[in-house]
Amino acid sequence: MALKGSYPALLLSLVLLGAWLALASGQQPTSTNDQFLRRHWDNPKTQATNNSAYCSLLTRCRGISKRNNTFIHDSIRAINHICTGKRDGPVTSPRTFKITVCKFNPKTGTATGTPLVHRIVVICKKKLPVRFVRSVRPKIWE
Ligand SMILES: *[C@@H]1O[C@H](CO)[C@@H](O)[C@H](O)[C@H]1NC(C)=O
Ligand SMILES: *[C@@H]1O[C@H](CO)[C@@H](O)[C@H](O)[C@H]1NC(C)=O
Repeated sequence: MALKGSYPALLLSLVLLGAWLALASGQQPTSTNDQFLRRHWDNPKTQATNNSAYCSLLTRCRGISKRNNTFIHDSIRAINHICTGKRDGPVTSPRTFKITVCKFNPKTGTATGTPLVHRIVVICKKKLPVRFVRSVRPKIWE
């Protein structure tokens, strides 16, 4: 009887634990354009002494400390435009964006920031970007 009574409570705590773990691991419980922008949009680029300091600062501010992340330095309008008229799924931007790729090295505990001008691949959902996939070097015309 006691076990039966505590079962829903146990289930609830498991659900809460799951939600907490999802947050703690930096995974988005649901993917929305808001969350995508909160994680990847920084325009104009925040001032820092160097790109390593930039990455430490920005990931800390966005609640994703010690994680690899790419920041995009362009208008929300330009970023969201990638998904205009597109079906749900990955889309590569036809144009390039100024970005900073932050890589965290767990061994040294330091971040490396690389400023690039790359095309970006995002997941589009309902005509808006909801997830960053990767950046790709612009193609040289052949
Ligand atoms: C970047 O700036 C930080 C803070 O000013 C400094 O501690 C660090 O040594 C600098 N890193 C590089 C690679 O210059
Ligand atoms: C972050 O990037 C580095 C360098 O590419 C890679 O070795 C590491 O596994 C990445 N970390 C995560 C959590 O993906």
